[in-house]
Parts: sequence; structure tokens; C-alpha cells
Amino acid sequence: MQVIHTLAELRAALAGRPGAAFVPTMGNLHEGHLALVREARAQALPGAPVVASIFVNRLQFLPHEDFDQYPRTLARDSELLQSVGCDIVFAPAEKELYPEPQTYKVHPPASLADLLEGEFRPGFFTGVCTVVMKLFQCVQPEVAVFGQKDYQQLAVVRGMVRQFAMPLRIVGLPTVRADDGLALSSRNGYLSATERAEAIHLKRTLDALAAASRIAGTPLATLEAQAMDALRARGWAPDYLTLRRRGDLLPPTDEERSQGAPLVVLGAARLGTTRLIDNLEC
Ligand code: PAF
Repeated sequence: MQVIHTLAELRAALAGRPGAAFVPTMGNLHEGHLALVREARAQALPGAPVVASIFVNRLQFLPHEDFDQYPRTLARDSELLQSVGCDIVFAPAEKELYPEPQTYKVHPPASLADLLEGEFRPGFFTGVCTVVMKLFQCVQPEVAVFGQKDYQQLAVVRGMVRQFAMPLRIVGLPTVRADDGLALSSRNGYLSATERAEAIHLKRTLDALAAASRIAGTPLATLEAQAMDALRARGWAPDYLTLRRRGDLLPPTDEERSQGAPLVVLGAARLGTTRLIDNLEC
């Protein structure tokens, strides 16, 4: 496995090796990322390289967020990537990917990107789309694999690839969970032991919201408010817990709720200083 830090070396390593399967990450890898790399290997054409990037993208962090604190663990990440058959790790320095201020940006549509995560992290999806577009230009993959844990991110990236007619496939992989059901996340590492034990209640509350929202009668807004209150009562500070349509992430109609349309519950909440997100298709 090669660990590459410059675009010139990456292009040289990929020359004559078309069809790369790509997993973009911000590092501090866990089993969820490794599942993405295994899927990339499964999706790659025979002989095509599997590439993972590790880059903590400043553009997708707000000034008060954890950009500086985000763990940089390249040596450990490289060992893990090697163990799952990654061929190339692309880990550029900030100056390599952004040698000048990145004034050209990809702005996803407000109708998809300014709700949910975008409401609480303004500009987040512009930062994500800009770096993902740039990484796709660097790697030129035939397929890229993303986790469904970042459900809205997956939808936004799919839309970008579709609308720009980018020549690659996007594959979404189900969330990998710990034994108790907590969605694996690099940010779980910020949790104290007590918070880690509590953290499963985000998923449990989403489970309960998903079940309740299929029963006709109570308005959705009431159910969502009850779910937020239930988490608040346990000491959480929720940003949102909500039922949405899977396709456009807008609220479903009462008919869609009662007639089994494909929906998803999504939630984001802060436990202590750690902000966790999760979702469940239902
Ligand atoms: O999901 C992530 O880790 C990041 O948002 C991504 C896709 C690597 C872009 O920085």
C-alpha cells in the first residue's frame, strides 16, 4: 500500500490504472470506515486500485466547531487501511489540496442542503461538496463509497454527481453499529464513559419516533417534539429529531406516513460537548 501526500504522486500512481474505487474520509478511522473500504474492494473492477483519502476539510467546519481538535491519526489509519486491502492512501496537507484560498465552491441547492444538518451547520454541505468534487478530480474514481450514517451528505453528493453528470457511481453503505446499537463515529471518541453509556439513547429515541409516526392520529410535529423532550429529559441538547421522506428529506404527508411510503427518521443532538447524529430508514 502506498501512502501519498501530493497530487503529482497520486496522479503518477494512478496512471494507467483506471477504474479506481474511492473512499473519502477525514481519518481517525473506525470499523465503519473499514466496511466502506471493503465495499470499495468488492465494487472495484478486477485489478483496479482501491483509494482512500484522509483529509480534515476546514471548509466544512464552522469557526466554533472541532476542526483543530479533530484527531489526526495517520499512522494508525494507514495500518487499518492496509489490513482491509486498500492500495493507495491519499493524505494531502492542507496546502496541497488548497494551495490558494478556495474561492470557487460547489453550492448545493438550499432545498436539500439548508435543512437538518445545514440548518444547524450553515455552509457545511458547500464545504463537503467542494472537497468531494475536488477529491473526485484528483482520484477520478469509477465508484465512490459513502456511509448512510451521514444520510443527508449521501443525498447531497448523489445530487451533485447526477446534476454535473460526473462519470462515477455512488454507493451508499448501511451504518455500522456497536454491539449496543450506537452508530460508529469518529466523534464517539470524545465521549466520557458515562456519556458513552448514555449515547445509545439517540438511536432508541429515533426507534420510538419511527414506530410512533406510523400510527395515524397524532400530528407529526407533536411526536417530534415529544422525542426531543424525551432526550432533553435525559440531559441531551437535541438540534432535531424528525421524520422525512427518503428522497428529498422533506416532511411526509399524512398519507405517506400511514401508507408505508419509504421514510427515514433523522436526529442530531449534543451530549455534553459532543454532537452526535444518527438515522434509521423506516
Ligand atoms: O464524511 C466525511 O468524513 C466527510 O464529510 C468527507 C466526505 C470525507 C468530506 O470531507
